[in-house]
Amino acid sequence: MSDRYAVFGNPIGHSKSPQIHALFAGQTGQEMSYERVAAPLDDFAGCLREQVAAGLRGANVTLPFKLEAYAACDELSPRALDAGAVNTLSVEMAAGGDAGSARLRGDNTDGLGLLRDLTVNQRIDIAGQRVLVLGAGGAVRGVLGPLLEAGPRALTIANRTAARAGELADLFADHGRQHGCLIEGGGWDEAGGPQDGQYALIINATSAGLGGDTPPIDPALLAPGGACYDLLYSDRPTPFLRWAERAGAAVAVDGLGMLVEQAAESFALWRGLRPQTAPVIASLRPG
Ligand code: ATR
Repeated sequence: MSDRYAVFGNPIGHSKSPQIHALFAGQTGQEMSYERVAAPLDDFAGCLREQVAAGLRGANVTLPFKLEAYAACDELSPRALDAGAVNTLSVEMAAGGDAGSARLRGDNTDGLGLLRDLTVNQRIDIAGQRVLVLGAGGAVRGVLGPLLEAGPRALTIANRTAARAGELADLFADHGRQHGCLIEGGGWDEAGGPQDGQYALIINATSAGLGGDTPPIDPALLAPGGACYDLLYSDRPTPFLRWAERAGAAVAVDGLGMLVEQAAESFALWRGLRPQTAPVIASLRPG
């Protein structure tokens, strides 16, 4: 019987993860299945327990269950602890043990996925640069650790609710210091004006685009030759990518590459080998 994996979410019907993992499995010759599980909003933990008892080997977790997945784990990786959320679960069984002896290990591959897409696929230089992150929700917390490890000179978090950005900046201040990065957080005006210095990279991690909006940021804040990255992805240019075009961005990309790269990191944790991502990204890109 092939090993069973799944992605948990609600709603989950639109998830591209089964397609991505099927392509990875085909490419690497792994015997595995990967399905969608629409967990009930009021009983993620119970649904997960049932699936583990039925032989599940690992899972991805998406909205709105990443915090509940964190709470359900017996063991957490340093990345999951930093992120305060889990997007990858591995079921570990004692030798010869039954599903009752299963232990859940939680990890978070979102930040690594973003970093790989930014630095390997898009060849965007982060070391020594000023970076602006828009938003201060779970998605931002998930990516800040790996972003800081890439060594930006300064990282500003700007958010509609200033206090949330301030809290995240405080939470990651030491992490930033270890990597020589000054981190600040506040409302939209925290991003400053062009006279305060421009940004080589602006990352949109707000969900404003879902409603057709873009954070109110001055396009002159993007440095000449700068890059814009939207964590959202869509078959058509997102509102933030249209903003990026108006700002004259040299590179403007959505989060499809991050989605495939975080999946590859999960696959590597489960199967011990890393699939090639470029052909998978190309096959998912419309047009
Ligand atoms: P996620 O896990 O996707 O980060 P979240 O924790 O709900 O989800 O965070 C959503 C982010 O998008 C927040 O930064 C939110 O701003 P607030 O902290 O002020 O709520 C931001 N956001 C959502 N809708 C927005 C809009 N229309 N304009 C600007 N920012 C918005």
